[in-house]
Amino acid sequence: MSQVLISPSILSADFAKLGEEVKAIDDAGADMIHVDVMDGHFVPNLTFGPPVIKALRPHTKKPFDVHLMIAPVDLFIADFADAGCDYLTVHPEAGAHLHRTLQSIRSHGMKPGVALNPSTPVDVLDYVMDDIDQILVMSVNPGFGGQSFIDSQLRKIEVLRKKIDATGRDILLEVDGGLKPANAPAAISAGVTSIVAGSAVFKGGPTQYAANIKALRAGG
Ligand code: DX5
Ligand code: ZN
Repeated sequence: MSQVLISPSILSADFAKLGEEVKAIDDAGADMIHVDVMDGHFVPNLTFGPPVIKALRPHTKKPFDVHLMIAPVDLFIADFADAGCDYLTVHPEAGAHLHRTLQSIRSHGMKPGVALNPSTPVDVLDYVMDDIDQILVMSVNPGFGGQSFIDSQLRKIEVLRKKIDATGRDILLEVDGGLKPANAPAAISAGVTSIVAGSAVFKGGPTQYAANIKALRAGG
């Protein structure tokens, strides 16, 4: 199996120096940069939007893996494309027309992803598997960093691994929430290609980022 990808969530970075933080995780070996966009409505927290992402774009060449926890989504897709996003991942509950949203993301030159809350069943993907490049399994309820991993999501990852393999397509399978070196191996064994981690990457400050990323990869 190829090495698991690490996508640090800048939700746990020092917001007063986000550009430096992005460069530091890039230098420390991050494969992608996970950006959690929250609107205080779809989830009970507020973060940042396209202008901040655009300002961060010159600080790394790594893909921006942007996780939208906003509703509605469609009005903002062009702005996220213009900001330089690579993967744009949405929750099916954020709008009435998931297929239309995914088509719009693709037509704006980005890779569409779908994020599943812990209670969201996998069947919502049945008729959009050809339209997505990433599935994100939420292993916490979205809104905050530093929560505990919900073990039932390992079963969901196993089901999704089979579903992706059946397509023969190269769809990333990412897990997001509560990942630590202690539980990353279980997620990797269940079939993820990518791990999002906020608190586990940023703890200890920039001198620790490379070691923290390496520790998360160790199971792969
Ligand atoms: C939660 C976010 C996660 C979060 C992960 O809504 O989607 O990306 O930042 O943080 P940790 O790794 O601290 O659980
Ligand atoms: Zn996220």
